[in-house]
Amino acid sequence: CGIVGYTGFQDAYEIVINGLRRLEYRGYDSAGIVLESSDKKFEVEKTKGKVDDLVKISEQLKGTAKIGMGHTRWATHGVPSDRNSHPHLSNNEKIALVHNGIIENYDTIKTMLTEKGFTFKSETDTEVLVNLIQYFMDLNSETDFPTAVRYALNEVYGAYAITVLHEDYPGLLVVARLGSPLAIGLGDKEYFIASDASPFVEFTKEAIYLEEGHMATISLENGVDIRTINDNSKIEPEIQELKLSLEQIEKGGYEHFMLKEIFEQPKSIHDTMRGRLLVDEGVIKMAGIWDHVEKFKNANRIIIIACGTSWHAGLIGEYLIEEYARIPVEVEYASEFRYRNPIITDKDVVIAISQSGETADTMAALKLAKEKGAFIYGICNVVDSSIARITDAGSYTHAGPEIGVASTKAFTAQLTILTLIAFKLGKHNGNLGNAEFMSLIAELDAIPKKIEEVLNTTHELTQNIAKDFVSATNFLYLGRGYNYPAALEGALKLKEISYIHAEGYPAAEMKHGPIALIDENMPIVIIAPKKGHYDKIVSNVQEIKARKGKVIAVVNKGDQQVSSMADYVIEIPETSECFSPIVASVPLQLLAYYIAVYRGANVDQPRNLAKSVTVE
Ligand code: G6P
Repeated sequence: CGIVGYTGFQDAYEIVINGLRRLEYRGYDSAGIVLESSDKKFEVEKTKGKVDDLVKISEQLKGTAKIGMGHTRWATHGVPSDRNSHPHLSNNEKIALVHNGIIENYDTIKTMLTEKGFTFKSETDTEVLVNLIQYFMDLNSETDFPTAVRYALNEVYGAYAITVLHEDYPGLLVVARLGSPLAIGLGDKEYFIASDASPFVEFTKEAIYLEEGHMATISLENGVDIRTINDNSKIEPEIQELKLSLEQIEKGGYEHFMLKEIFEQPKSIHDTMRGRLLVDEGVIKMAGIWDHVEKFKNANRIIIIACGTSWHAGLIGEYLIEEYARIPVEVEYASEFRYRNPIITDKDVVIAISQSGETADTMAALKLAKEKGAFIYGICNVVDSSIARITDAGSYTHAGPEIGVASTKAFTAQLTILTLIAFKLGKHNGNLGNAEFMSLIAELDAIPKKIEEVLNTTHELTQNIAKDFVSATNFLYLGRGYNYPAALEGALKLKEISYIHAEGYPAAEMKHGPIALIDENMPIVIIAPKKGHYDKIVSNVQEIKARKGKVIAVVNKGDQQVSSMADYVIEIPETSECFSPIVASVPLQLLAYYIAVYRGANVDQPRNLAKSVTVE
């Protein structure tokens, strides 16, 4: 979910609505706004649907207030509906609250409040919290609004970022954070609140990122006052300079953010390597690794934890690090790792990969690993995100903001970082000889150029192929070695945005199950570069063709054998095997993108998904 709040001299409606549009990637099944008008009354509008739907019912609020807040939702408790949309009001209709996260013990609190006579209009945990605040104010007339918020927060477990307004406290915003991010933008006679800084980049470059377990009161009269939620101790805020520019978060002429981000990859990969890969000097500079190189060298094993696309990057990381650094690697879904009582010691290095740096399961898994004494390392895209802050060390991917819900440039940036780490460690521990190291880094340096070439040669081609598969109901993606995870990622991209069922498989495993699905209606994307078990793949393609499957083959330029059997051929430049997932992923992103576009799907905001999943 996304939260936006504002107090200042501008029209709060415009700021909140525009801010919600920028945060819509965080959730988009409902949206709402509350404004505190000049007569100190709340005006609330909320609806199921997108920010555009909210605008349709709320335009009359334009220009009516200088303070307000809004919310865009990704449903957890209760179906997307007008009723369950935020903001939620307390029973006395004096307190309004927007919330991102989950209150785990909401049921117990709801029972208690119901016994005291409170009633509930929605199924949400949020409505329970707002009434708990009212309850504390009713209980004792001495309890002021911010204190009641603090009391209420001390009763709840779970994860949240909240913003609260009270009609009797005009001009005061109360915010708090535990587990979900919240930034406060500091303008000149105005303050902004948002789940990330994108809603206010054009107004201020100064922000405070609220820390875990902290709350703040914000008003034009008294500024920002930060306290701990548990004991109300005063905290000195740390003001940060924002690096984000408006241009970075706009579509720049592309129809969708996803397409823009696919096309940004030559640049984003270059940015990931900038200052790290120094080909002329023959070195890879990575302070995060270098400062702790003995930890890695002496590690019993490296465990990579992640979710979704980042998990696929982790799988490729396993191939890279085991091949070049010869350190054993395991890759786990963060959600499985954290709940299975894993055996972790201080000889383990745990690497978390996360674009957003906020994914709740990854965060919790990291905390567990840290408690057990492991050295924890983060690979995040969002600077200063929660994961980046709790890790012992890490490397940012520097891919720039990724807005499209389906991850593209963040994925290839993650692969780039993992490649750098594998080469760096391999060189250091002597597994990677100097000559091979030099040739590999020169090749890595040329990858952005190759991606550019792939974009040029496959853009139109993938559109044409996509047209033939608009009505497909299933897809298989196959690859071997490094390209097995690339096949998983190709399938994930397609299912996320086109809603076509797609499965990725190691090509050799096909005969142990998926082959039963193959007939003339089954499209099969097969990644078959020259380097990497090519002969074996040739046999797999023969097996598919014998059953009349439709083959879309990703091959190297000039390929003969696989191409002669394939129904569709996508050529990519030849690389060493370890780089092929980066290059092969690009046409697969384009293919998924165009199939989804031709099916009329909302590519940037696919149904039921969210960019940053801050709930378990
Ligand atoms: C969500 C997104 C995916 C992403 C996953 C992990 O499910 O929709 O695109 O791969 O979360 O996110 P992270 O930010 O941790 O990489």
